[in-house]
Amino acid sequence: MKILALCGSLRSGSLNAAVLRSAADLFVPPWEITVEPDLSRLPFFNADVEMNDLPAVVAELRAKVGASDGLLISSPEYAHGTSGVLKNALEWLVGGGEIAEKPVALMSASPAVTGGDRARAWLTETLTVMGASVLTESLRVPMATRKVTDGRLTDEPTLAEMRELLDTLARTVAERRAENGVLAQ
Ligand SMILES: Cc1cc2nc3c(=O)[nH]c(=O)nc-3n(C[C@H](O)[C@H](O)[C@H](O)COP(=O)(O)O)c2cc1C
Repeated sequence: MKILALCGSLRSGSLNAAVLRSAADLFVPPWEITVEPDLSRLPFFNADVEMNDLPAVVAELRAKVGASDGLLISSPEYAHGTSGVLKNALEWLVGGGEIAEKPVALMSASPAVTGGDRARAWLTETLTVMGASVLTESLRVPMATRKVTDGRLTDEPTLAEMRELLDTLARTVAERRAENGVLAQ
């Protein structure tokens, strides 16, 4: 069962990348997680380009989303929304339709006490309109600079919450596969 992870931050020292890295550490077979390496490789969305000459990187991302059983997204909050880089990736995914009905789990890390709540709310709205099945449960990591060490989430209570979220994502994916007649592994 394949999960595709997207990070909304490009920063080398990103708190959200650290959160995703720690989530990836928790995956065990038959679960597989692939972290999309760099959303900045995508050009800015342009409907003319989409129609006439779809860039290979976009086709690649759409195929990865299509081949996945679910998505795990961690996003920073920028000006009370998600990041431009993540919004741009989602715009490219609208037309492909691969995200429809995919279970999506959201996480956000912020140095602020609000923990990126508005970025997750914003993403929930956008992903829902795209037809994705966004989990009600999500992970917020407030005051994240105190909870990340050496590029990993090290705060035990938050890690416990993360395990719960990943369990919920796994359960949802398994249920979805069973509904679709695929034998859950
Ligand atoms: C342009 C800009 C806007 C920001 N706006 C918000 C905001 O609205 N809410 C918030 O909690 N943090 C905000 N921040 C702080 C980010 O949450 C913080 O930089 C965070 O570490 C970014 O995520 P990253 O560590 O994964 O790169 C903002 C930062 C920048 C640079």
